[in-house]
Amino acid sequence: MDMDNENIISPELESVEEERLENSLRPKVLSEYIGQDKVKENMKIYIEAAKKRGEPLDHVLLYGPPGLGKTTLSNIISNEMNSNIKITSGPAIEKPGDLAALLTNLSEFDVLFIDEIHRLNKSVEEILYPALEDYTLDIIIGKGPSARSIRLDLPKFTLIGATTKAGSLTTPLRDRFGIVARLELYTPDQLELIVKRSANILGVSIDEKAANEIARRSRGTPRIANRMLKRVRDYASVLGDGEITLKIAKIALNKLEIDELGLDEIDRKILETIILKYKGGPVGLETLSATIGEEVETIEDVYEPYLMQIGFLSRTPRGRIAMPEAYRHLGIPLEE
Ligand code: ADE
Repeated sequence: MDMDNENIISPELESVEEERLENSLRPKVLSEYIGQDKVKENMKIYIEAAKKRGEPLDHVLLYGPPGLGKTTLSNIISNEMNSNIKITSGPAIEKPGDLAALLTNLSEFDVLFIDEIHRLNKSVEEILYPALEDYTLDIIIGKGPSARSIRLDLPKFTLIGATTKAGSLTTPLRDRFGIVARLELYTPDQLELIVKRSANILGVSIDEKAANEIARRSRGTPRIANRMLKRVRDYASVLGDGEITLKIAKIALNKLEIDELGLDEIDRKILETIILKYKGGPVGLETLSATIGEEVETIEDVYEPYLMQIGFLSRTPRGRIAMPEAYRHLGIPLEE
């Protein structure tokens, strides 16, 4: 059961098969992209303006919790700019030479997408600055006294950086993005539309109430909603005639130990620990992490955003606090 839970909520794509699923469900144009209305509106204007001027789009930084569609949005942006996209990630670019190879292979107006951009190493980041600022690349040839630096011109490109934490970007890097957009958790209504759209693409029929049930339990995250849809579809084909009904959706989601609000075992453990072991808090993140045996990063990036959104948890300078709603949900009396 544990394993099932982990991959329902885990931020990463689990397999090549899941990547294929995501790709097939991904909207290709801005008008098909559901939610993130403010970001969409702004991007639409920036893209149109750049195209009118015949210039590349300014560099874009997308930040927010995992699974909200940062890669999807980047693909759409490159599509709408009629350009190509090259996709990589911070940890994959190990040496300055790796980045130089990527940059020199771009064509005019291409999009370079760097996921987890906060994990770029310093030496790589430094050669990125002039590339972003004036499309040049300074490379050093040779070593010691005979070393010299040569400057290469790069095609005009757009960098799209994605990160779960804008706060861990260095200031010089953050300052080089002309467009900074924060993706928000989706509302249940938006997720319901996404679930229906995905079901339609997958060719399964789903009733309104079942779509709503999946939406409510997918903690604001399309990736989780689509994962749940797939699991529920399996139950529907084995237990029923393939149609996803509310009854089948509930059976499947309960089996995954995802509760009415989309909380899993680890969410409950986080809240119970704060309430029962630390008198409701405040308790520091490091202490909480050590007590429940989950990594600080996972608690912070994967679990807390949703717990805060539903008003169960508060981050204060002195630590994490469990809110009254959390006590109620877990059935723990609130002591005065
Ligand atoms: N699938 C995943 N995210 C989506 C979104 N924002 N809009 C439409 N379909 C999606």
